Amino acid sequence: MTMATPPSSQAYGESWYWDNRYAHESAPFDWYQKYPALAPLVHLYVPHRHHRVLVVGCGNSVFSEEMVNDGYEDVVNVDISTVVIDAMQAKYSNRQQLKYIKLDVRDMSPFQGGSFDAVIDKGTLDSILCGNNSRQNAAQMLDEIWRVLKDKGVYILITYGSPVYRLALLKESCTWSIKLHVIEKFGPEGSSEQPVRQLTDLIPLDESGSSVEDVLGKNPDFHYIYVCIKVRISSYSESPVAKIQNRFG
Ligand SMILES: C[S@@+](CC[C@H](N)C(=O)[O-])C[C@H]1O[C@@H](n2cnc3c(N)ncnc32)[C@H](O)[C@@H]1O
Repeated sequence: MTMATPPSSQAYGESWYWDNRYAHESAPFDWYQKYPALAPLVHLYVPHRHHRVLVVGCGNSVFSEEMVNDGYEDVVNVDISTVVIDAMQAKYSNRQQLKYIKLDVRDMSPFQGGSFDAVIDKGTLDSILCGNNSRQNAAQMLDEIWRVLKDKGVYILITYGSPVYRLALLKESCTWSIKLHVIEKFGPEGSSEQPVRQLTDLIPLDESGSSVEDVLGKNPDFHYIYVCIKVRISSYSESPVAKIQNRFG
């Protein structure tokens, strides 16, 4: 970080913070986890390489490039930062499988409903939850992700937030069927050590998410991966954003 005074994490929800950061730090950086570590899970939930994938809040990570190197044919990336989108468009101008578009994930109206098979979010909901009006912004984001997904499309959320902090938010917003996986924060990269848990193993989830503590302990060194499958309930009438507004006034 080259900024004079470190910003509070509240700034993570603001576009000026990210523009400033990317203007000073142009080297590729992947938050939390890199593609090779997560690839087995991506293969499980995005089984066809022709599936259309949306990466929200892509930053300057090489995750999407590595997905394309792995055979995925249509990876669309959005970010609120003009600086990073300009840089990524220039960097990948010769990769037709990769598209970069400046968009706020809370309003993805240029995309039609049901236009993606999968949405991948690594650290973006977490950033939005740091900012002002976080609950409402998060609800708008989840509402938009749900809208742009096809029925039975999958939202893969990679986060530091345990189920006690994320499950209610996910359930309050949209109608998902939710599965949970975990990956060690400091994986045995390059070593021959076996991970403590297999990435593709499911972690049992109860209604509140508190069961996960029984399995992983109180302060586990894991990132959480919520795999949220879009479920359409025909009788579902109240919009997810309205639901949150009603709840939080
Ligand atoms: C923690 S970084 C994660 C970057 C990347 N996904 C990764 O894994 O390395 C969060 C990213 O979300 C972007 N972002 C924050 N708020 C956003 C919003 N409302 N719409 C779109 N992108 C947003 C930021 O510009 C930043 O690139």
